[in-house]
Amino acid sequence: MKFFIDTANLAEIKEANDLGILDGVTTNPSLMAKEGITGAQNILDHYVTICNIVDGPVSAEVISTDFEGIVREGEALAALHKNIVVKVPMILEGIKAIKHFSSKGIKTNCTLIFSAGQALIAAKAGATFISPFLGRLDDISSNGLDLIAQIRGIYDNYAFDTEILAASVRHPMHIIHCAELGSDVATCPLKAIKALANHPLTDSGLAKFLADYEKGNS
Ligand code: G3P
Repeated sequence: MKFFIDTANLAEIKEANDLGILDGVTTNPSLMAKEGITGAQNILDHYVTICNIVDGPVSAEVISTDFEGIVREGEALAALHKNIVVKVPMILEGIKAIKHFSSKGIKTNCTLIFSAGQALIAAKAGATFISPFLGRLDDISSNGLDLIAQIRGIYDNYAFDTEILAASVRHPMHIIHCAELGSDVATCPLKAIKALANHPLTDSGLAKFLADYEKGNS
């Protein structure tokens, strides 16, 4: 399973990249605003900076909601760097735009997926990735992981190339369950990725190994 980091924070992106297990980055307008990145040119520059840190797909989201606007914005984003993936909202105008981008070889990430039907039409339009939002489904007492399983089954039935990019991942168990269910990608906060490494028996075992080494060598 590929690991993407879900942030626009450069320090976190560098830290995750330095671990050597990072495959890409996702951002959205809320994550950009959280880092204080505002203004069209600053936002474009920030995407290029991220692309220069991580050698993998970097999702950059359009803010237009009409076909012509999405296409105009998406083509400008795609021209920034070879690794840019144009992130398009799951609306009918977005589906038309994804079909257009797909015919031109521009990679897309269809975002704000909350149902299997949405995932099905995004795949038919040729989306490179689709982003089901697990945490936000859990937030409304629905089961985000059930949606991943349902989409996996549908995509496998028809050998769709579209990759399932689990998003709105909140904690390490989300990542593990996504891996069990065959999600192609999980985009995660840095904290959740780092939490995968933790185990108290690893800590106590290492402390004992080091203490025994010291005893034997003192
Ligand atoms: O990947 C989508 C993500 O940024 C949304 O996460 O926690 O706001 O639902 P959250």
